Amino acid sequence: MSTRNALIAAFIAASVGLSVPALAAKMPLKSYHKEIFTDEQGNVECSTCHGDSKPYTIPSEDNCLTCHGSKQELAQQTVRSGHGAEFEPNPHDSLHYGQDLSCVYCHAQHKKTEVYCNNCHEFKYPDLKRK
Ligand code: HEC
Ligand code: HEC
Ligand code: HEC
Ligand code: HEC
Repeated sequence: MSTRNALIAAFIAASVGLSVPALAAKMPLKSYHKEIFTDEQGNVECSTCHGDSKPYTIPSEDNCLTCHGSKQELAQQTVRSGHGAEFEPNPHDSLHYGQDLSCVYCHAQHKKTEVYCNNCHEFKYPDLKRK
């Protein structure tokens, strides 16, 4: 585990103490989150994404940003080196929505990941982790 992941694990461990026990029902998570959200007993800590809302609702982007920095930083991480057809547009800072789209429009957790833009476009986004 990297230092950063260890810090995040400590953060989750600290928040587990404050929340109700993880639901018995297990929701599948994406591979990139599995380790970080699963404790030594194999329980997934739901509240880190879902907060205290019961029943569970679509997570607030604020919960994602606790670990993933600010929207400005995300937009910088995926900035394109040029414009035109060979550079698909920056998903985190787009023509129509700027930085306003909530994460869950494109990063699903318990279901198939689809990019919201593709309701109207056909972007490929090869670097998007879907599993
Ligand atoms: C407790 C901290 C934490 C929370 C909360 C969290 N993540 Fe993550 N996320 C991580 C870590 C750690 C990784 C794996 C390392 C990395 O890629 O930064 C990761 C990876 C990812 C990736 C893959 C990144 C890549 O390299 O392609 C995406 C996408 C992502 N998270 C989106 C989200 C979304 C959307 C939410 C809210 C629903 C969320 N995360 C909530 C910690 C968190
Ligand atoms: C419009 C769709 C869309 C939205 C909304 C969106 N993302 Fe992404 N995200 C992507 C795509 C596509 C990638 C793949 C990387 C790329 O194309 O540069 C990505 C990559 C990432 C990565 C990896 C960044 C890297 O350095 O490669 C993280 C972390 C991430 N997203 C988190 C988030 C979080 C957190 C939010 C909400 C604040 C969010 N995303 C909103 C589409 C989106
Ligand atoms: C990494 C963040 C993350 C974790 C951890 C997480 N979820 Fe979710 N959950 C999401 C996202 C994002 C959605 C939106 C739909 C989707 O992507 O599948 C969601 C949607 C849901 C929904 C549907 C809500 C609705 O109104 O449609 C339920 C129920 C749910 N989650 C339950 C759980 C349970 C139970 C756990 C713990 C075992 C859990 N989730 C852990 C991110 C997370
Ligand atoms: C509801 C439909 C819809 C959605 C969703 C949508 N777009 Fe568009 N987009 C359009 C239309 C219509 C145009 C104008 C096309 C034209 O004039 O040729 C356009 C134009 C664009 C252009 C200008 C270049 C081009 O391809 O014509 C970019 C870049 C773009 N959209 C990016 C995005 C991104 C990134 C997302 C997701 C974050 C997105 N769009 C989501 C409908 C949509």
